[in-house]
Amino acid sequence: MRNTWVSLSNRLMIFTAVLLLLLTSSPLSAQDGEALFKANCTACHKIDKKMIGPALQGAKAKWAERTGSDEAIISWVKNSTAYMKTSGDDYAISLFEEYNKTLMTPMALTSEEVIAVLDYVDNWVPTGGGPVVVTGDGVSVASTEETSDPTLWLIVAAIVLFIVFRVLYGVSKNLDRLNSQREEVELSEEKGMYSDFLGLFKRYKVVTAILGLLVFGYISILGWDSIGSIGVYQGYQPTQPIWFSHKIHAGQNGINCVYCHNSVEKGKAAGIPSVNICMNCHMGVQEGKVSGTKEIAKIYDAIGWDPDKNQYIEGYDQKPIEWVRIHNLQDFVYFNHSQHVVVGKQECQTCHGQIQEMDEVYQYSELTMGWCINCHRETKVTMKDNGYYEEIHSELTEKYKDEGLESFTVEQIGGLECVKCHY
Ligand code: HEC
Ligand code: HEC
Ligand code: HEC
Ligand code: HEC
Ligand code: HEC
Ligand code: HEC
Repeated sequence: MRNTWVSLSNRLMIFTAVLLLLLTSSPLSAQDGEALFKANCTACHKIDKKMIGPALQGAKAKWAERTGSDEAIISWVKNSTAYMKTSGDDYAISLFEEYNKTLMTPMALTSEEVIAVLDYVDNWVPTGGGPVVVTGDGVSVASTEETSDPTLWLIVAAIVLFIVFRVLYGVSKNLDRLNSQREEVELSEEKGMYSDFLGLFKRYKVVTAILGLLVFGYISILGWDSIGSIGVYQGYQPTQPIWFSHKIHAGQNGINCVYCHNSVEKGKAAGIPSVNICMNCHMGVQEGKVSGTKEIAKIYDAIGWDPDKNQYIEGYDQKPIEWVRIHNLQDFVYFNHSQHVVVGKQECQTCHGQIQEMDEVYQYSELTMGWCINCHRETKVTMKDNGYYEEIHSELTEKYKDEGLESFTVEQIGGLECVKCHY
């Protein structure tokens, strides 16, 4: 019995190790696919809608069906011009014609990366909205459910555990009854389900271990991804009520972030611009290159502007634009923009990514505690010529005199203290 147990526990360890390896070492995960998709394709493609290029969901299967393998679509994505020249694929050429001969940028991606992108796209499911921003003058709020809920898997796991437990308990009871009948021994007093269960575990180690392993495997496979990402919404990109492109506004037209997010240097929140701010320009700009009049008409619809007469409609019942909030820390965390942007001299892009290149904003950073802390550990505070720090700087120089430190990280000025971030 002891030997079986030892070799079993060895096997168990090996099995667990293999399982963990399988779970962690798959070379390109869905997340990589997502990141690559966002970095390389979102300028022209949406997953489920036609944009500059066709909707991408299902394209891989469509191409495989037509050409017999994934090779064709891989070389297409890597370099569509070369593919059209060398393959003589009529479908590709007609697609190219259909999309007004728009060329796809050649991509420096490996075949695995292309597949990761296409797999991400195929497995993507539309999500509801998220919690929402309340803004200055009445531009605001809607609220919908969160993305996929990991607690579901925990509940499923709990139920499975419970069932296994009940079955084992039943088995144990029956065996006890059989034993006592055979040996004509009185059943000892009811010990209760819990201690019975422990006893059973001691007696039937192999059975229990195997069942335990199955449960463990089941939970791991089902719940791994979701458990690992509880509360992390990195990459979150809800569909907004108006196709508002930062690339067109902040990028191509060079509009300063602060023009629209006008409380970012003054207060805690950056703020989302009101419809009035849009109207500063869109009384004049009535048509866009990408969406024509369709999207800009939604601004007029919200505020009550008649573009034909070039005037506001009298007595119009204004409807706020319900932007879906993307970045959202939990209530128990305190984060202040002006502290970071003005005092800490941090760039928007460090935390939000290359917003000026995004047609649609997504959550670039993790926004977890570890993320905040890491940056506070690594970032040096610019104290020179920064009025805010004169006093604290001389205090700290004094404190770290022996080490001869002249510059300080956020950590050293107290940026890791719990109360700084938690009320
Ligand atoms: C500069 C714009 C642009 C970018 C960036 C771009 N595409 Fe495209 N894509 C197009 C256009 C336009 C078409 C339609 C065919 C054509 O005009 O060449 C297309 C077609 C496709 C097709 C064929 C779809 C079908 O229905 O058969 C696939 C697959 C594809 N793109 C994948 C990608 C992937 C993956 C990326 C990112 C790695 C990407 N594209 C980046 C513009 C782009
Ligand atoms: C012309 C106005 C305008 C300009 C300029 C602008 N934004 Fe925005 N921004 C918006 C609007 C409207 C939204 C809400 C819709 C959306 O999320 O796309 C928004 C949303 C955002 C969000 C996501 C907010 C959330 O819900 O969490 C971030 C981050 C952001 N902007 C950063 C920037 C940065 C950085 C710049 C400068 C590079 C910039 N914005 C320039 C209008 C603007
Ligand atoms: C400082 C000026 C300015 C402000 C403020 C501004 N826009 Fe624009 N917007 C532009 C310009 C310029 C264009 C580019 C038109 C083009 O060349 O396509 C544009 C284009 C657009 C388009 C069409 C894009 C396309 O190509 O299809 C939409 C939609 C839009 N803006 C929405 C908004 C919204 C919503 C707001 C307020 C949150 C806003 N804009 C604020 C200047 C502005
Ligand atoms: C140190 C990291 C950091 C920097 C730098 C930063 N942000 Fe943020 N931003 C955040 C975090 C974290 C949130 C979420 C805040 C919350 O939920 O309370 C956020 C939220 C936002 C939002 C959502 C709505 C709001 O009012 O808070 C906008 C818009 C925004 N940032 C714009 C900007 C702009 C524009 C800049 C540059 C001028 C900037 N951010 C610089 C971390 C940063
Ligand atoms: C990109 C780097 C960076 C990230 C990410 C970042 N911070 Fe900071 N933070 C700074 C810098 C630089 C300062 C120094 C400015 C100052 O002392 O006021 C600072 C200061 C602070 C302070 C004031 C500390 C003090 O002792 O006065 C608080 C509070 C704070 N950050 C909260 C947060 C929270 C919460 C997050 C995550 C949601 C976060 N920070 C993420 C760079 C960052
Ligand atoms: C620089 C800012 C910062 C500091 C300092 C900080 N936290 Fe946090 N903490 C956060 C943020 C941001 C979150 C939210 C993470 C999320 O939503 O996933 C958080 C979440 C938490 C949570 C909830 C756990 C969770 O994952 O939701 C606990 C508990 C916590 N912090 C305790 C502490 C303690 C104890 C300290 C002091 C040793 C501390 N924090 C210092 C920023 C900070």
